Amino acid sequence: MILKTAAVQANIALGIALADRTNLFKALASVGSESAPAHYSEVAKYGNLKPRYTKELLALLACSDIIEVTPDGDHFYIKDAAKEVFTSEIKDKSLAFSTFIPLHAAVFDNIAEVMKCEGPLGMDYSNYGSFYGIMDQFSIVIHKKHLVPDLIPMTGMKEKLIEGIEFLDVGCGSGFHACELGCFNLSIVSQAFPKSHFSGIDLTDSAILKANERKAQMLLPNVEFFQQNAKSMNSEWNNKFDMVMIFDACHDQCRPDLAIKEIHRVLKPGGIFAMVEIDGTSNVHQDKLTFGPAACAFYSASVFHCLAVGSNSEGKKLEGR
Ligand SMILES: C[S@@+](CC[C@H](N)C(=O)[O-])C[C@H]1O[C@@H](n2cnc3c(N)ncnc32)[C@H](O)[C@@H]1O
Repeated sequence: MILKTAAVQANIALGIALADRTNLFKALASVGSESAPAHYSEVAKYGNLKPRYTKELLALLACSDIIEVTPDGDHFYIKDAAKEVFTSEIKDKSLAFSTFIPLHAAVFDNIAEVMKCEGPLGMDYSNYGSFYGIMDQFSIVIHKKHLVPDLIPMTGMKEKLIEGIEFLDVGCGSGFHACELGCFNLSIVSQAFPKSHFSGIDLTDSAILKANERKAQMLLPNVEFFQQNAKSMNSEWNNKFDMVMIFDACHDQCRPDLAIKEIHRVLKPGGIFAMVEIDGTSNVHQDKLTFGPAACAFYSASVFHCLAVGSNSEGKKLEGR
């Protein structure tokens, strides 16, 4: 039964990701409604998209029951009760999950080669064209609401952050967390820590470029980004930081063991290290029981991305990779 529906589900997820990328949902929500469905050409015009492609993608979504179609087959709308899911400023979590599907599909041929015993060790971040943009959106979806009000208090460092400390984000990607914490423009974030200084490091230039763009856009003098490998950070950073955090960026490092050693070196004595990581156990049976079908999204991310970027170097041989 699952085999019979799997391909259909995969096509639906691809369609959702394309509609999200092209802002088709927002265009449809703007020109069509339950009381006045929109002709596909109106949707196309509003969204600056080609009408024929727009019709085809709307058809895919309507046949999936994601949106609605009228009996003439040419008018479409999103049910009023569902509009929020497709138009909210912070993306819906389920919708955000679909945006990873094209990323994974794009490296399908490479992963098939990597899997072979004689194939390459893994994949480089540069193989994943839109990874940083997609990951950035995903982090906003899962962390924006909780970072300052919930997560930071759990570390016991909220008061110290208010007083002013040195903070390091390891594997900062596009800089969302450091900028969110460092932000002191109250119109953007209501609570943050303007007296603290936030540094972020990431392996790749492309991540640091994006992070610096965000910092510039948000006008943040207390945030800095550096291109560095976590396994060998700046040698002058001994005992520099009061707090180090990793957000979803330990499990996909080639040498997380060395990164943890480095974190110990750059932390002041008595400093705090906290990490947000995937809540998996590596016991497939247990993960299946805990997360149900959602576990397959984690394992898919692992096969098509995390394992591949995390295995992409010689060095210490880790059993099973
Ligand atoms: C899953 S992403 C998470 C990014 C960001 N922390 C977030 O939550 O949005 C993992 C990040 O770790 C970075 N990374 C991987 N290996 C690294 C290493 N050895 N040193 C520094 N950063 C690394 C990647 O470039 C990527 O930005």
